[in-house]
Amino acid sequence: MQSQIKQAVKETVSKKFGLKNVPDFSVDIPEKSEHGDYACNIAMVLARTLKKNPLEIARIVDMELENWNLKNGLKTEIAPPGFINFFVDTKSLGLVLKEIIKKKEKFGSAAKKKETVIIEYSSPNIAKPMGVHHLRTTIIGQTLVNMYNFLGYKVLAMSFPGDWGTQFGSLIAAYKKWGDAKKFKISPVKEMLNLYVRFSHLAESDETLQEEARLEFRKLEQGNKENRKIWNLFRKESFKDFDRVYKKLNIKIPLVFAESFFEPYLKEIITDAVNKKIAEQGENGSLVIKFKDDTPPLLLQKSDGATLYATRDLAQMKYRVNKWHPSKIIIVVANQQTLYFSQVFKTAEMLGYAKKENLEHVKFGMVLDSTGKKFATREGKLIPLTDVLDEAILRARKVVEKLNSKLSTKEKDRVANIIGIGAVKFFDLSQNRLSDIVFDWDKMLNLKGASAPYVQYSYARIKRVIKKSKIKPSGKIKIELLKEVEELNLLRHLLHFPEVIEYSALKYEPNHLAEYLLRLAEKINNFYEKVQVISAEKEIKNARLTLINSAATIIKSGMNLLGIEVVEQM
Ligand code: ARG
Repeated sequence: MQSQIKQAVKETVSKKFGLKNVPDFSVDIPEKSEHGDYACNIAMVLARTLKKNPLEIARIVDMELENWNLKNGLKTEIAPPGFINFFVDTKSLGLVLKEIIKKKEKFGSAAKKKETVIIEYSSPNIAKPMGVHHLRTTIIGQTLVNMYNFLGYKVLAMSFPGDWGTQFGSLIAAYKKWGDAKKFKISPVKEMLNLYVRFSHLAESDETLQEEARLEFRKLEQGNKENRKIWNLFRKESFKDFDRVYKKLNIKIPLVFAESFFEPYLKEIITDAVNKKIAEQGENGSLVIKFKDDTPPLLLQKSDGATLYATRDLAQMKYRVNKWHPSKIIIVVANQQTLYFSQVFKTAEMLGYAKKENLEHVKFGMVLDSTGKKFATREGKLIPLTDVLDEAILRARKVVEKLNSKLSTKEKDRVANIIGIGAVKFFDLSQNRLSDIVFDWDKMLNLKGASAPYVQYSYARIKRVIKKSKIKPSGKIKIELLKEVEELNLLRHLLHFPEVIEYSALKYEPNHLAEYLLRLAEKINNFYEKVQVISAEKEIKNARLTLINSAATIIKSGMNLLGIEVVEQM
């Protein structure tokens, strides 16, 4: 409806005022329901151009739209300084309800589109445990994947793990010196991390070690059997470790193209850059890319001939575009890489691999602890993500125990798992993506606050009411029976679900969907406070049950898009 209104307004003013280009205006969903289901600011926008009073313009536009509104079940009101507020009439709201009942969790999903979008996310680095910083890319990325799928795009969900580069020379050298097979077997990732830290520490003041590392990496690049074998072991153990985290998060990334995959394509990138005169000689025979604006240069090849992260990213882009012709490549990576991606995107465009407008760096802020420092152990070390997730489940278990001690142990465990993981995901997804977020267990699990369990609880409560009513909401209802303000407010909110998903997806901002669900839960609470369900007269009871059952459908669908499950009982 939102986009239809926008289109109708645009056509109307273009005709009425003879405007070839209608300046940009908005059709928003107002916070307060008394401002309508949609509010349009066209009159304020045109007031400047037409040098007319916005209220007068609003009246003219409103009059011109009268027939269209009638046909589309809309009523309008004009509000100062010149808003046109649109109200969807009850009959059309009834149709929305019907559609939710019919389509269930598919309500709001769109038909298959031809466009392919690549969403690259998670992309952890091998030989290190996955840390909280990888949490954000993983869950934001997965939500984008879910939303774009829902909207009908052909989505290629993939990760680009870091498994190549000179640091693996250091690791191989360290492994050869001090590697302990026994320790490695017990906790391989921890051992790899220890070896790497020990080696780089010493290498800081020891040139021979640095040289050794370079040599080992060169041997790895040239296919030396022993080095390949060691590196493969690192890879295998790391991927096993990542999978454990993904399993806990209930996430599957279908396509994995690690950095090493692009190794055979790196020469070609260098040749392209040299032939097209885009790369220049830097210090000691290195190759750099310089930019016309004040962006600092990007190193493409080191003086010893080694390639870099950037070289592999360019290879990745060329490969993706040639193979899949995506209309967008969306890469979900932290804020810290902003400069890097602006360099790489510019270079990709200069090389003719991709157009900048088709490349999107979806960035996000850091995870901080309550004192505002980077979320880490007391010694400043990275906290493995598995530890964080385990703690979430443990804390959720206590919440479940308090809420419903009658559940079986098995059920309690299952619910605690869903609530704990859901709480972590929602906490991240409900906040502004670009801000740093402060990790706060109490907020995350607060049943009365802006949290996943709050939304999950309102779902479970609806299911409980329906069960208690002993009738299955038939869906065949007289919409006129829903006339309390709280009923209508709830119903009106359901109308916006598809628009919110689209908005969230296209802006890469899952927090709008999360906020929508919080407001939905709030509206359900207001409804219970004012409206009787179980004790209502039969027909009204059926109508009310149908309404809340539809709200439950939307909660489930919305939470699933955020990668979060709901439970029937908690
Ligand atoms: N492995 C990198 C890291 O953990 C993230 C990779 C992001 N994707 C990319 N195409 N560069 O920092």
